This record gives sequence, structure tokens and C-alpha cells, in this order.
Amino acid sequence: MSVDQGSDSDRKMPRYHFDRHTAEYRERFTDITEEMQSKCPLAWSDTYNGHWVAADNRAVFELARSADVSADHDVNGERRGYQGISIPKMMEVSIRGGLLEMDDPEHKIYRGALNPYLSPAAIKRWEPFIDDVVRACLDEKIETGHIDFVDDLANIVPAVVTLAMLGIPLQKWEMYNEPAHASVYTAPDSPDAPRVLELYMAMGMDLFANLAEIRDKPRPGIINALAGLSVNGEPAPDMELLGMLNLLIGGGFDTTTALTAHALEWLSENPDEREVLSRDRDDLLDPATEEFLRFYTPAPGDGRTIAADLELDGKQLKEGDRLWLSWAMANRDPEIFHDPNDIVLDRTGNRHFSFGIGMHRCIGSNLARTVFKSMLCAVLDRMPDYRCVPENTVHYETIGVIQGMRYLPATFTPGPRVGAGLDETLENLQRICVEQELARPVTERKEQARIHV
Ligand code: HEM
Repeated sequence: MSVDQGSDSDRKMPRYHFDRHTAEYRERFTDITEEMQSKCPLAWSDTYNGHWVAADNRAVFELARSADVSADHDVNGERRGYQGISIPKMMEVSIRGGLLEMDDPEHKIYRGALNPYLSPAAIKRWEPFIDDVVRACLDEKIETGHIDFVDDLANIVPAVVTLAMLGIPLQKWEMYNEPAHASVYTAPDSPDAPRVLELYMAMGMDLFANLAEIRDKPRPGIINALAGLSVNGEPAPDMELLGMLNLLIGGGFDTTTALTAHALEWLSENPDEREVLSRDRDDLLDPATEEFLRFYTPAPGDGRTIAADLELDGKQLKEGDRLWLSWAMANRDPEIFHDPNDIVLDRTGNRHFSFGIGMHRCIGSNLARTVFKSMLCAVLDRMPDYRCVPENTVHYETIGVIQGMRYLPATFTPGPRVGAGLDETLENLQRICVEQELARPVTERKEQARIHV
């Protein structure tokens, strides 16, 4: 990775050889970030057919909110041929990544359909449900003194909760969370890739089956809202709906898993800070959550296409140029954050970009925070002396897509179970979901309903 001043035919632009899909990028993230921010916060990289990289807070802020920057993915070549938010393109035959690969006004229609399910009031209603799934996961392990925080907790809870919100039977969580997790860390040339692809296809078929079932016999949930959505007077096309569902699964599962695993690992390495956080939760839980989000930025960035020539800080960005918005690097900008490379649990005014910025800002942020806090607090309460096992911890080799973890084993002093195991709990929660229509939309600002589990 290196900087030089080059030209692209008539265009002078700072160049930086930037490849976020390499292990080097993960290992040298801090150095690369500092180098780019000091020398070329908006640079052209020759990788993946060439693209701009926005690496500081200002460039990311300006470009993410610009009306001249597009997220559109024109998979059928019907508009301007833009390639959406993945650099490089994820698969040869692709479907659009839901509303995240749409521009307004289309984007607004699909986002409007999700809002009543993911607003703060809607998420509040799910809190007892979420706490109960977390409780059951810990009960499965609490008597043994051993847990893998990824496989046994952080990988399960977001999956179960997302399925419940979609209106998919909870017992299917394993069919969904394995492909969602494995497809992020499995390289296309890995011997395991065909197996993961097969699992992914099976998940896609099941999504379609659920969509068909719900069309036939409606049941509450996000799928029901999407099935009834009309776009310009026509029902939303099935392929767009599948893209939406894929996005909700991709957005909802591994990101929250990654955040939780990193926070638990850091708290194991910093037991004094863990004690302070556990003791002063009323004051510290919220700022600490934002700080873990900032520091670990589980979704490190997203791609875009320049939709009209524009100039930023003397650099000419041309229509059709690809652009990478690095939320992760912007989150370490020393102009905005003091001691950007330290975790400061009580950091104030933490305006991080971990949920993005602009019209595509994460619609699942309320849910992500709630699920994260539930998992973190339950571990602090029930496994207060846990220690992670560094020699068996496995981080993703690269952080190009998700800054995540495969395994985070830990030991702790065993304790008593307080409720049913996971299978029985999910059966019970499935019944509650149906009886209380938990997955119905919330349009009232003040939603008082609560569930009792
Ligand atoms: C810690 C957890 C999460 C992180 C770090 C995260 C991060 C992000 C980021 C950075 C974006 C903006 C992408 C862009 O502008 O290109 C985004 C958008 C989105 N996220 Fe999340 N997300 C998380 C959890 C969730 C959850 C739990 C859900 C859903 C249940 C979700 C659903 C979405 C959707 C649907 C969008 C697209 C919004 C739009 O295009 O208007 N995310 N997320």
C-alpha cells in the first residue's frame, strides 16, 4: 500500500494502492488509516478496476450525503449500469441488495415499508423476547464453565430475532445463520465454498417458500408488509423482495455478532474496565456501546457510484467512477475523535459512522443496540469472571466486508440454570409471537404493549 501523485489521462489525482480484502489491510489498519488521512484522505486506488477511497470524516460525510452519489445496482442493465455497493461485485449473476442498492424515490418506498417494524417503539416491544433468547443461550452453557461467545450466543440471538420479525418460524434459525455467517468469511476459492453456496441457495429457496406461504395465508411480520407492497401501482417484483430479505439477513445477523464478540474480547483483556462498566452500567452502558461500535466498525464501509461530475477538495470525480466510503477509517479521524485508536468507554459526543450516514443510514440500529446490550449485560451478570481463550480465538482473516470473528471461546465459574434450554424456549417464544402478534407493525408513537415470558 503506497501513495503517489499520478494522472489518469487528463486527471491529476492522489493515488493510493488500497486493497481492503487483504490480510495486510487488517493487520496494518491503523498505519494505513493514518497515512491516508494525513496524505490523501480522498485517493484513487487502482484495485478492482479502479475506485476512489474516502478515508477521513469530511470526505465520507460529504460524499455519503451527496445527491450526486448513487447506490443503485442496475443488475439488468436498464438504467445507467451502476454496480451498487460492493467493490468488487460480489457474484457474477447477482440480484440487487434491496433498498441499500436503490436511490430515491424507489428507495423511500421500500424503506417506508420497514419503518413500522424497526422504529424505537417497535423494538421496545421485543425486549423481553430478546432477553429470553439470550437467557436460554447462556442456560445451555452456564453449568459447564465453557462457552464460545460466537457460536453459542452472538451468532444465535440476532438470527432468531430477525427471523421472528420477518415472520419465519424460529426453529429454522440454523438453516439461516450458518450460510449468513459462513458466506462472509469463506473465500470464493476455499474448499468449503461449494458447501456454503449450497447452504445459501437453500436459504434463498426457504425465503421464497415463506414469501409464497405468507402471500397465500398472511401472518404478521416484515415479509407480510413486503408481500403487500406496491411500487408505482404494481406489486413489488419478487426478485426485489428476495434482495430485501437477503439484505435484512446480511445486515441483521453477522454485524451484531461481530460487535458483541469484539466487545466481549476487549472486556476480557481489560478486566478493570469490565468491572467499572459492569458496576456503573446506568452511566456507562450507552457510551460504551457507541464506543465499541466506533472502534470496531463491524461493517467497515460501502461502495457507491458517482452519478454526476463533482469536485471535492480540488479532486475531480467523474460520472461513473466507483467510490469506497470507509466508515471504519472515518471513525478513527483525529480531527473528530481524541485518541481515536483507544477505546474510551465514557467518550462523549461520539458521532461515529458505524451505521452509515445519509439516506441509507442503518434502519436496524435500534435493534442492533438492543440486542447487543442484552447479550453484553447478561454475560456480565451471569459469567462475571469469564476469560476468553486467546490461543483458540479466530478473527476473520480479512475485514473487507465484515470485521468479524469465527470463534471466541471462554471459560468462567459455572453457575445454575435459570430457565428452559434453547429448543424449548424457542417453542415457547414461537407461541408467544403468534398469540401476541409480536411481529405486527407499530404505527403509534407510544406503544404500551408488553409481552410476558
Ligand atoms: C451492529 C450492527 C449493525 C451495523 C454495524 C450496521 C451497519 C450498517 C451500515 C453501515 C449501513 C449503511 C450502508 C450504506 O450506507 O451503504 C446499514 C444499512 C442498513 N442496515 Fe444495518 N447494521 C447493523 C445492524 C442491522 C440490523 C440489526 C438490521 C436489520 C434488522 C440492519 C438492516 C439494515 C438495512 C435494511 C440497511 C439499508 C438501509 C437503507 O438503505 O436505507 N442493520 N447498516
